[in-house]
Amino acid sequence: MSSFSSPILCNLPRITIIGAGRVGSTLTQRIAEKNLADVVLLDIVEGMPQGLALDLIEARGIELHNRQIIGTNNYADTSGSQIVVITAGIPRKPGMSRDDLLKTNAKIVVEAAKKAIAYSPNAIFIIVTNPLDVMTYLAWQATGLPRDRIMGMAGVLDSARFETFIALELGVLPADVKAMVLGSHGDLMVPLSRYATVNGIPITELLNAATIERLVERTRNGGAEIVELMQTGGAFFAPASATSVMVESILLNQSRLLPVAAYLQGEYELEDIVIGVPCRLGCGGIESVLELNLTDDEKAALRTSAQSVRKNIDRAQEILASISLT
Ligand code: LAC
Repeated sequence: MSSFSSPILCNLPRITIIGAGRVGSTLTQRIAEKNLADVVLLDIVEGMPQGLALDLIEARGIELHNRQIIGTNNYADTSGSQIVVITAGIPRKPGMSRDDLLKTNAKIVVEAAKKAIAYSPNAIFIIVTNPLDVMTYLAWQATGLPRDRIMGMAGVLDSARFETFIALELGVLPADVKAMVLGSHGDLMVPLSRYATVNGIPITELLNAATIERLVERTRNGGAEIVELMQTGGAFFAPASATSVMVESILLNQSRLLPVAAYLQGEYELEDIVIGVPCRLGCGGIESVLELNLTDDEKAALRTSAQSVRKNIDRAQEILASISLT
């Protein structure tokens, strides 16, 4: 049989995932096994993304999909991606907050974003590296992208955790619980209890205030709880699932209303900041930001959350100004 095969991916949707750690590699698996797109998995460690890609490719016959998965150390291989997801960076150790990662991860994310945009100027960017809101802001600045085409993944994960804890408490099916968590991806996140429901029934009808407060606290501490248990690294299954939901909504133009870390220009009375708010996600990226009528307490919580992000953006800018980037 004469061969006509070419390494070009035949215009199927292509997603680049930068960082082949546990989040990046699990996300590669989720996207391929959901048959959403071909994936280019890039890491600076030689052999690592190539090995992971080969391992995933060898499972294709069993998992019944035919997605291409390319492992690489070379940004040229990412060219023409519809979506770029940045997961690269160091994870937390026990006792660390996400903000403690600022110095190392700022440089990694800015460099990755600049290199990726050079090869995929039309891509939509999703940032996953922590501290999430600050890294998304820095990547927005570094790429010069319009704000509809760059966002951070956190709210879907934090909401999934809140939903999980509600489902466990009530003994109901997790898929029947819907909740939304806004604000920064940190201790100051803003779980909106009054919007949380079990198949439309507000949880305030089903749980007392003290129990809801306990579940809210567990949600705020959701990432750290896993870091404490694992001791090395943090969560990756649920973060990968949450990111794949955003990828899916964009690629399939589902226009889902999801909590997304977005650059705000006056929405929620917040300006020049990235923070989690409800957004419609479709093929153009963020189609719109939904402005909910928040209570005074919720507004104050969102403002406090934004202030802490602003402080860390300023710190990150100082750090970036003092180091040389490649
Ligand atoms: C967490 C990390 C992904 O919340 O921030 O588990």
